[in-house]
Amino acid sequence: MIFRQLNPGACRTYLVASEKTKEALLIDPVLTKVDEYLKLLKDEGLRLKVAVDTHTHADHLSGCTALRDKTGASYAMHSSAGVVRVDKRLEDGETLGYGDATLQFLHAPGHTQDSLIVLAGGRLLSGDFLFIGEGGSGRLDLPGGSIHAHYDSLKRLDAMPGGTLMFPGHDYRGNAQSTLEAERASNPVLSPRSREEYLKWWESLRLGPAEWMKDVLKANVACVCDPNAVKIPQGVSACEACAPAGPSAGPAVPEWSPQEVKQKHAGGGVSLVDVREPEEYSGDLGHVRGATLIPLGQLGDRLAEVPKGAVVTICKSGRRSARAGAQLLAAGWKDVHSMAGGMEAWNEAGLPVEFTASV
Ligand SMILES: [Fe+2]
Repeated sequence: MIFRQLNPGACRTYLVASEKTKEALLIDPVLTKVDEYLKLLKDEGLRLKVAVDTHTHADHLSGCTALRDKTGASYAMHSSAGVVRVDKRLEDGETLGYGDATLQFLHAPGHTQDSLIVLAGGRLLSGDFLFIGEGGSGRLDLPGGSIHAHYDSLKRLDAMPGGTLMFPGHDYRGNAQSTLEAERASNPVLSPRSREEYLKWWESLRLGPAEWMKDVLKANVACVCDPNAVKIPQGVSACEACAPAGPSAGPAVPEWSPQEVKQKHAGGGVSLVDVREPEEYSGDLGHVRGATLIPLGQLGDRLAEVPKGAVVTICKSGRRSARAGAQLLAAGWKDVHSMAGGMEAWNEAGLPVEFTASV
């Protein structure tokens, strides 16, 4: 069986195909990458039989309809999906197989009512039902989302062996894969909780704006194939609802917007501490000029390097920086702010970045 993870960015697509029959399936193809998929299929001598969406997407336009129209492949989703041009409606436990490539689909509602997870030869394609580590899972607050349903769906993992390789629908930290064993140990969504605790935990999460995502959902239900039909913010970890600054993380940390951070820093007397990893600091999102790099995991040991005056903590999306800020407040700092939305929001606002190596 041929198995490939495509799109190294935040949205992951999977190619599964039979080596024997050259028949292929694409899972969660993205509209803007349809030409790349068609080229790949051609180069590999594969025939696309089915394009699958694991759920109605809210953060990007699906490529399934375009692939269906261009190749004659079927478009498959869970039977409850409202997407108008789906022609294979899958039930829980159903399989699709071509030669030596067989996929089994399990209904796992929560992120959306129509969410599927997919078993493919010892691998679990977890869609937005479960992400890797700190990423937690897809958010549950969009139309059709349900914390109760997600809690129940998590039980589907119980019977799966720890060694099951897990491939998520998104990853915003550059991780390609994990194992269920590793997720059971580190993913905040899988931490053992009663239903009540689970509800409370989700309600405590601070999620980003979702209005634009409702427009994307509607466009995907209508099978829109114009990539410019909906305005989709770039560089935002929109689908993710991950580890919050929970009770153990310390006091609440006030936030400044990127614009406020820029203004206060320019005024002097404010230190910037970037708590991401070194490769993120010098990576695609760059960093704010003058920000000192102290990864969150090292902060406790490097408090002496943090000036005692006003401090702004910065990370990729605003979550780690909130935790770092809480750590500083707990350690005696009085004037600490976390930059809302992190370097994603800074870039989104078009503010200047530097790409030098770590300092
Ligand atoms: Fe999603």
